[in-house]
Amino acid sequence: MTQDELKQAVAQAAVDYVAEHAPTGSVIGVGTGSTANFFIDALARLKDRYPNAVASSEATRKRLEGHGFSVLDLNDVGAMPVYVDGADEIDGGLNMIKGGGGALTREKIVAAVADTFVCIADASKEVATLGRFPLPVEVIPMARAHVARELARLGGQPALREGFVTDNGNLILDVHGLAISDPKTLESHINQIPGVVTNGLFALRPANVLLLGTAQGVRRKGGAQ
Ligand code: 5RP
Repeated sequence: MTQDELKQAVAQAAVDYVAEHAPTGSVIGVGTGSTANFFIDALARLKDRYPNAVASSEATRKRLEGHGFSVLDLNDVGAMPVYVDGADEIDGGLNMIKGGGGALTREKIVAAVADTFVCIADASKEVATLGRFPLPVEVIPMARAHVARELARLGGQPALREGFVTDNGNLILDVHGLAISDPKTLESHINQIPGVVTNGLFALRPANVLLLGTAQGVRRKGGAQ
């Protein structure tokens, strides 16, 4: 199977998960990226049952609206049973690195509201230790150099994502060379640096369920079986 076919398979598995676990009329939280896009396209078949969604990026909002979903302001949403999103890396504890698409801050906010985070990924994203994928850190523009120096003190090599501005008007530093043995501590530590909006470690709030696309089929980890 191609990588896109694996992504399509996990996207469909996530729609099946939503149909089984989210009451009709629930607001569905939707992530960002190529795997999330396959999920949006598959969810469109259930649009009459789930007409309302919250988007984790402007790109996702546009794609959802293109299918006819109503995209709600998160401030108007009191409950969200499921948030579905991809990841750049995921480990055995369902800790993730996210933000390859630059939407990490909104993704983390929407995930914080959801009861269940369903991560959809192809098998290439599964790792023993996080950190081979450069860790994205969203920074306020005036703090770029200061944050880069602090990240270098932690042993990483930060690189500005050239020509990229987040949906929030900020910059991304991609931090190379981190072997992340304690993702929760590192997530908290980086978030304490003045000027950091958030970082792409999702360990304090990891995924609850992983749907992993493999050549042998979709493997599920976490959640009630
Ligand atoms: C975007 C993300 C994505 O979930 C992550 O980059 C994975 O993307 P893809 O599904 O295209 O591989 O965190 O900010």
